[in-house]
Amino acid sequence: MTFEPKTKIRSRVLGVGACLPGRIATNADLEKMVDTSDDWIVQRTGIRQRHLAGPGETTSTLATKAAERALAAAGVSADSIDLIVLATSTPDYTFPATATQVQAALGITQGVAFDIQAVCSGFVFAVATADKFLTSGSHKRALVIGAETFSRILDWEDRTTCVLFGDGAGAMVLDAVCDQSNTGVLGSRLRSDGRHRAKLFVDGGPSTTQTVGRLRMSGREVFKHAVGMVTDVMTDVFKDTGTRSEDLDWFVPHQANERIIDASAAKLGIPLSKIVKTVSMHGNTSAASIPLALCTAVNDGRIKRGDLVMIEAMGGGFTWGAALIRW
Ligand code: ACO
Repeated sequence: MTFEPKTKIRSRVLGVGACLPGRIATNADLEKMVDTSDDWIVQRTGIRQRHLAGPGETTSTLATKAAERALAAAGVSADSIDLIVLATSTPDYTFPATATQVQAALGITQGVAFDIQAVCSGFVFAVATADKFLTSGSHKRALVIGAETFSRILDWEDRTTCVLFGDGAGAMVLDAVCDQSNTGVLGSRLRSDGRHRAKLFVDGGPSTTQTVGRLRMSGREVFKHAVGMVTDVMTDVFKDTGTRSEDLDWFVPHQANERIIDASAAKLGIPLSKIVKTVSMHGNTSAASIPLALCTAVNDGRIKRGDLVMIEAMGGGFTWGAALIRW
C-alpha cells in the first residue's frame, strides 16, 4: 500500500542573500595583465567587470555572509536551519565540506550540512537536492548556497579563460510547508554526461597531481553544447509541471555568457524583458551566479511573491539542469 499525503509538502522560498568581494577588476584592469581588450570581452561575453576575493576572503567566508543575509531577509534564525546544501567547485579545503564550516560559523549544531560538486550547475543541483529532502518530510528548513572563488583556480596567463570568471556567493532559505497554493519549487531536472570532461576541467586534484590545478576550457566546444542542453531540460521541466515558457515571469539563467543566455531564451520564445542578467557586473561566478542574480532581482523589486521563475545552468562534467520555482 502506498501512502499518499493529503497535503503536498513544498519547498518555499523565504529569502535570498548575496555577498560579493569588495575588489572589482574591470576589463581595462585585465588588459594590463593579458593580451585582451574590453571590446573583445564585451562582444564575446557581455562581461564588463568581476569581483575578486581578497586576502582573508574564502569560499566559506563569502558563503557565510550570503547565508546571514538570506536568513535576515527570510526573518528566521540560524538555529531553525536543519539542512545546508552548499554548491562549490572551489572549497576552502579538500575536506571537510565547506558547508560544515558555514554551519559552524553560523553557530548551527543541529541537522546536516554537505557540499555538492556540479561546477556551474551546482546551485540548480543544490536546490533540487534540498527540495527532495524537504518534500520527503525528513528536514524542515534549508539553506541552499552557491559559493565560489574561481579566481584561485584560474591560470592568470591564459587569456581564453581568465577574463571570464569572478568570485561571489549567494544563498536561499527554503522552508518545508504544507502548501495548497502551489508555491515553491514546482519541478526540477538534472543531467550529466561525463564523456565531455575534457572540454571543461581543472587539471589537478588530490588523487591525481596532489595540486589544486588550473581551469582549462575549450570555449567553442562548451558553447556548441550549452544552448541545446539547457533548453532541453527546461522543456522537460515545463512538461513535468504543465507550464509553458509564456507563463514565466522571470528567466534567471546561469550567468556565463550573454550570447548563450540570449540564444537559450530565444529558442524557447522568452522575451529579453523577462531575462535577469548580471553577467556584465559579476562575470561567471559558477555555482554562485544564479543566487547572485536572484538576489539582485529580488532586491530591485523585479521578482515578487507569486512570480514564476525558471533557473537553469550548464557546467563542467558536463552537468546541466533546470528548476521551476513559484516565488
Ligand atoms: N582576448 C582577446 N582575444 C582572445 C581572448 C581574449 N581574452 N581569448 C581568446 N582570444 C582569441 C583567440 O585566441 C582566437 O584568436 P585566433 O582566431 O587568432 O586563434 C579568437 O580570439 C577567437 O577565439 P574563440 O575561442 O574561437 O572565440 P569565441 O568566439 O568562441 O569566444 C568564448 C570565446 C567567449 C570563450 C566562447 O567560446 C564562449 O563563451 N564559450 C562558452 C564558454 C562558457 O560559457 N563557459 C562557461 C560555461 S560552463 C561554466 O560556467 C563553467
